[in-house]
Amino acid sequence: MKLDKKQIKFLEEKSYLEIINSSKVDNLKEIKRKYLGKEGIISQFLHELKNPENVEKRKELGNLINLWKKSLSKKIEELEEEQKKKNIEQNLLNEKIDIAWEGKKLPLTYAHPINYTIQKIFTIFLPLGYQIVETPEIETDENNFSKLNMPLGHPARDMHDTFYFSSKLLLRTHTSGTQIHVLKKNPNQELKVITAGKVYRRDEDDVTHTHQFTQLEGFVVGKDISLADLKGTLELLLHQLFGSNHPLRFRPSYFPFTEPSLEVDAQCLHCQGKGCNICKKTGWVEVLGAGLIHPQVLKNCGYDSEIYSGFAFGAGIERLLMIQYGIEDIRHFYLNDWRFLQQFRLL
Ligand code: FA5
Repeated sequence: MKLDKKQIKFLEEKSYLEIINSSKVDNLKEIKRKYLGKEGIISQFLHELKNPENVEKRKELGNLINLWKKSLSKKIEELEEEQKKKNIEQNLLNEKIDIAWEGKKLPLTYAHPINYTIQKIFTIFLPLGYQIVETPEIETDENNFSKLNMPLGHPARDMHDTFYFSSKLLLRTHTSGTQIHVLKKNPNQELKVITAGKVYRRDEDDVTHTHQFTQLEGFVVGKDISLADLKGTLELLLHQLFGSNHPLRFRPSYFPFTEPSLEVDAQCLHCQGKGCNICKKTGWVEVLGAGLIHPQVLKNCGYDSEIYSGFAFGAGIERLLMIQYGIEDIRHFYLNDWRFLQQFRLL
C-alpha cells in the first residue's frame, strides 16, 4: 500500500461508499474488520507510519488517518444502530398478532360429576335454611378424633388410619370435624349446616373404596331435634337423588360421635337389587352414616346438652353417584377419562 495522501483519500471515500451500500448487519461487520480491524487497512497505514523513512509524512498523514478512523467508526456505529432498529421493526411486523383472528375452538367443558352433585345437593338444602361451610382438609387430631369422642387409643381410630404431618395434624378422614369447627364457634346456637370436601383414609382401593374420596356432611342443632327429623331429611335427600320411590334401608350402627347411630343403604340401581359386583351381591349399597349428635360432643363444643340436641349425617358423594348412574367402579371418577366424563355433559 502506498502511503500517500491521495491513496488515503481514495480508500477513505471507498470505505464510506462500501458502508452506505451495505444492507445487512453482517456486511457492515465485514467492512469494519476490513478497515478498522487489528490487521485492517487503517492499522496497516498506522504501522507503516512508524517506519523511520516515513518520519516526515507522520504528522500530516497521521492526522488524516486518525480523522478517517474516527469518522468511519462513528458512521459504522450509526449504521449498526439504524440496522438494529430496522431489524426490530421487521421482527415486530412479522410477529404481529391479529387480535381479531378467530381462536381455536375448544370443546365446551362442564363440571366434574362430583362437583356437579355437590352443587345439586346444596341446592336441595339451601331452601331448607342450611348454611354452606368449608373446613380444611388438613385437620387437627382434636377436631377429627378427640372432640368426636375418639380419644387416643380408641378402637374406632383403626378404621380411620391416615397420613400424619405431626402427632397433632393429619389429613382428615371424614367431614365430621366440621361439626366441631362450627359448634365451637357458636355455642348454644341453633344452626343447620351443610359441607362437602375431600377426605383421606388408608383404605385398600377396590370398586367401592378409594384412599381419597368426597364426603357430604350435614348437621342440625336445635331444641327437641329427633331421629324423625333425621329420617325425614335423609329420605328427602335420597329420594331427590334416586327417585321418589327408590327403596332405602335404615340400619342401626355405631359411631362414637352419635347416639343412636344408623347407616343408610340404597337399593343397587345397577342390578335393581338382584346382586352384582357394585353391591357385592347384596342388592344394597351403603351410602351414609348418621345419628343424633352425642351429648358429649355438644358439651365438648360448649353447648348445654340438656337443652340442645342435634342430628348429623355423612355420605360418600361417589357412592351416591354410583347408585344413581350404575357406575361399576369408583376409580372411574379419578381417571379423567374423557369418554367417562363426557357422559355427564347433559346433567
Ligand atoms: C363416616 O365417615 C362418618 N363421619 C359419617 C357420619 C357423619 C356418621 C355424621 C354419623 C354422623 P363412614 O366411615 O361410614 O362414616 O363413611 C361415610 C360414607 O363415606 C360411607 O357410607 C361411604 O358412602 C363413604 N365411604 C367410606 N369409606 C369410603 C372409601 N374408602 N371410598 C369411598 N367412599 C367411602
